[in-house]
Amino acid sequence: MKYVILTFICLTSYVFRGQTPSIIPIPLKAEYPKGSYSLPSSLTLSGPNDPSLKVAFSLFSEKLKKATGYKLKWVYGDQAKANIRFVLNKSFDSSLGKEGYRLQVNQSGVQILANNPVGLFYGIQTLGQLLPKEIESKTIVNGVSWKIPFANIQDTPRFAWRGMMFDVARHFFTKDQVKQFIDEMVAYKYNLLHLHLTDDEGWRIEIKSFPNLTKKGAFNVKKIGRFTEFSKPEPNEPRDFGGFFTQDDIRELVKYAKDRFVDIMPEIDVPGHSMAAVASYPELSCTPEAVNYQVISGEPFIDWSTDHAIALQDNTLCPANEKVYTFLDKVFGEVSELFPFEYIHMGGDECPKNYWDKNPQIQALRIKEGLKNSQEVQAYFTRRLEKIITSKGKKMMGWDEILEGGGLPKNTAVMSWRGIKGGIQAANDGHQVVMTPNSNVYLDLMQGDGIIEPPVYETVRLKNSYDFNPVPQGVNAELIKGGQANLWSEQLFNYRHLQYMLYPRAWAVAEDLWSKNDNKNWDNFISRVENHFERSDMAEIKYARSMYDPIFKFSKTSKGEIQVNMTAEVGNISFHYSFDHSLPDHYYPAALGVITVPKDAVEMRVIGYRGKKPMGQAIRFPISDMLKRIK
Ligand code: ACM
Repeated sequence: MKYVILTFICLTSYVFRGQTPSIIPIPLKAEYPKGSYSLPSSLTLSGPNDPSLKVAFSLFSEKLKKATGYKLKWVYGDQAKANIRFVLNKSFDSSLGKEGYRLQVNQSGVQILANNPVGLFYGIQTLGQLLPKEIESKTIVNGVSWKIPFANIQDTPRFAWRGMMFDVARHFFTKDQVKQFIDEMVAYKYNLLHLHLTDDEGWRIEIKSFPNLTKKGAFNVKKIGRFTEFSKPEPNEPRDFGGFFTQDDIRELVKYAKDRFVDIMPEIDVPGHSMAAVASYPELSCTPEAVNYQVISGEPFIDWSTDHAIALQDNTLCPANEKVYTFLDKVFGEVSELFPFEYIHMGGDECPKNYWDKNPQIQALRIKEGLKNSQEVQAYFTRRLEKIITSKGKKMMGWDEILEGGGLPKNTAVMSWRGIKGGIQAANDGHQVVMTPNSNVYLDLMQGDGIIEPPVYETVRLKNSYDFNPVPQGVNAELIKGGQANLWSEQLFNYRHLQYMLYPRAWAVAEDLWSKNDNKNWDNFISRVENHFERSDMAEIKYARSMYDPIFKFSKTSKGEIQVNMTAEVGNISFHYSFDHSLPDHYYPAALGVITVPKDAVEMRVIGYRGKKPMGQAIRFPISDMLKRIK
């Protein structure tokens, strides 16, 4: 579906005529003159014979061929007569920068120009979105008129770091699934895959010097239900659930990503989140009971009821144990060899200190090094690790907890996740920063109300993701490398659900990171999201429709009546409801403002409609749950 979007006119200096294509992320400048170019059923493409573009060109050809059934011919070099021409600029066009491109569609065909191969690659992604949605089909779609609207697009990203974190530790995802993840990322111009490779629930990368890390550390007990509330595994339950990447797998993934202009940043999360390592090599812990520890299977083992983690089993590497630094030297050495990317992420988050506080080795270290508290003990560990990582020719990055305890080396970059305050502090201290605030870009969190969404800790709605701006006021913008969406996998049991959690929020974050802030517009974005829902249907990619569900607020009057206020996240939605257990449709009353719950009602049912079309999920809200919220 295409919309005429009047509000969009003010977003760029151009005037749009007719229908506006739905490009996500929105390009820097775009005009769409009247008219379109029809692809002939036998077409010629031309482009530079550049090895770094081989895969990109063949992926594009395959996509075109699969959906259209058309005959394609490639000619290397610049062919003025080609229907689709890819051209590398002979001299640098500074308006496009390193990653930008210029895309023109007119009566002679399509032309994409860029300074570098990566720019042509992003031009291809935009061209894909200019084509009819059927281009996403994996089989030939007959009866489509394969037209591309006339366009003059000039585009370049706002940030160089457009990341997506994939947690393959809590739940393992296979090499092919990681490849699919990369393919989905690049369609929206993400360029950095942060692989969270180790955690309490699994160690996912082969380390030749420490084979137990994957022999024992990569497997736990399969449990289904609600992660962190699972029963404690019985001693006789098979520990065969999980997996890991061999070093060859990693090399293959790095190459696969590189062919799509994506860098992979590995994360080895230490000194906390290390139960898989401790269970494999208990001598790395400073807790004697660690010899009995097992890789966590989703059973509770940390007390999160205070503002810091209290471990019920010690999941940390011991900063007072020299063997730990020998271990880190070997592990980070092997990891550095595998990943060409300049940064290695060392985690550093949520490290419980309660076992350290009662440990004599740690107390001795504190006296020797003059460390005032356990935060300073972690800071000491971080500084030692930074030396190791630097000795491998890499730069270190960590979660914002590494600022605590002070003394963080200046060339260490900080990834701010507990909101943006850690990022602000880090930038003010002169560190490079990547912003990943949990309030906006934690895509593992629910995208709607917990009454209907698969339960996770909290909610981050699409609008929260769209409102993300990585550069806070007053901060030196040069120190903000960019931002990143994070997809933790505690509650991700399969790839379809992974997609459900990603979309549409990953589209919002893509726009936050690529597009100029002034070009962003919520209503316009939503109309493009709706187009991308249709494209995703063609591509058979799952997504959430939670943006059509109500935002609920409950209150009680002085007379004890329960009141429900339902507001919509997106425009043009009405909520039809019942209290009599029947399933509401658009003939039922629409909630306008606050509604009062009838005295004897047991549940409310509600669903969002646009006119006569059901848009949201059928929600059943027990009155007992409303009462809990009011309390
Ligand atoms: C984190 O979410 N613990 C970085």
